[in-house]
Amino acid sequence: MIIAPSLLAANFGRLTKEAQRAARSGADWLHLDIMDGHFVPNISFGPAVVATVRPLTRMFFDVHLMCSRPEILLEPFARAGANQMIVHVELGEQVTSLLWKIKSLGKKVGLAINPPTAIGMVQPYLEQIDSLLIMTVNPGFGGQEFIHETLPKVQQACVWRREKNLAFHIEVDGGINFKTAAECARVGADVFVSGTGLFGQRNLGAAVKKMRRLVEAAHLDAGCAQPPTSNLQPS
Ligand code: DX5
Ligand code: ZN
Repeated sequence: MIIAPSLLAANFGRLTKEAQRAARSGADWLHLDIMDGHFVPNISFGPAVVATVRPLTRMFFDVHLMCSRPEILLEPFARAGANQMIVHVELGEQVTSLLWKIKSLGKKVGLAINPPTAIGMVQPYLEQIDSLLIMTVNPGFGGQEFIHETLPKVQQACVWRREKNLAFHIEVDGGINFKTAAECARVGADVFVSGTGLFGQRNLGAAVKKMRRLVEAAHLDAGCAQPPTSNLQPS
């Protein structure tokens, strides 16, 4: 079980202190959201910021590229210290070459999928990836509410992983708090990205510990359990 605070929810006025706070918290990965103002209607930060926080921690840097042209950013983020780079399946026919490019840079390979995109779109790539990131909000902004209708996609990914005997991580991102993290763990997620849900807590170390305890308990014997149908109704 991997807990990944998202730096997007940190106080940008004290970014280095916030990165150190994450490093001390016991979290496994630091999630870095890269937004280009085109693929999503928001802009976050670039390779220079990632390179600034890189020397502060040995955490695994999980770089989520919400960008229309990730091909021009892969090398800069690799140099800046990314450990994994994630591109979106919505980019269509470029995806295969992007995954190969990330691999050729010696980095872990991730593929992300937005809430409106059918989970079948990722199926052809499952053998090639280290992580499948299932967006549980529409990307672009932190602090949004978890979309419960995404849970069956997590469950489907879990079934494919088991059937094909693969080992990719199933990562959930968006609106993840103590409650929704446990709901995702129950259907097979094992990486929990949380911005507001973790950075918003005064004691980040205690919050990471609590989230870990909850997802471990929810995952026990869960297999690829069906999500509860009551949660699938629009609220
Ligand atoms: C959303 C980003 C998320 C974001 C999550 O576009 O991909 O990683 O940081 O933020 P919270 O946890 O606040 O929903
Ligand atoms: Zn993200």
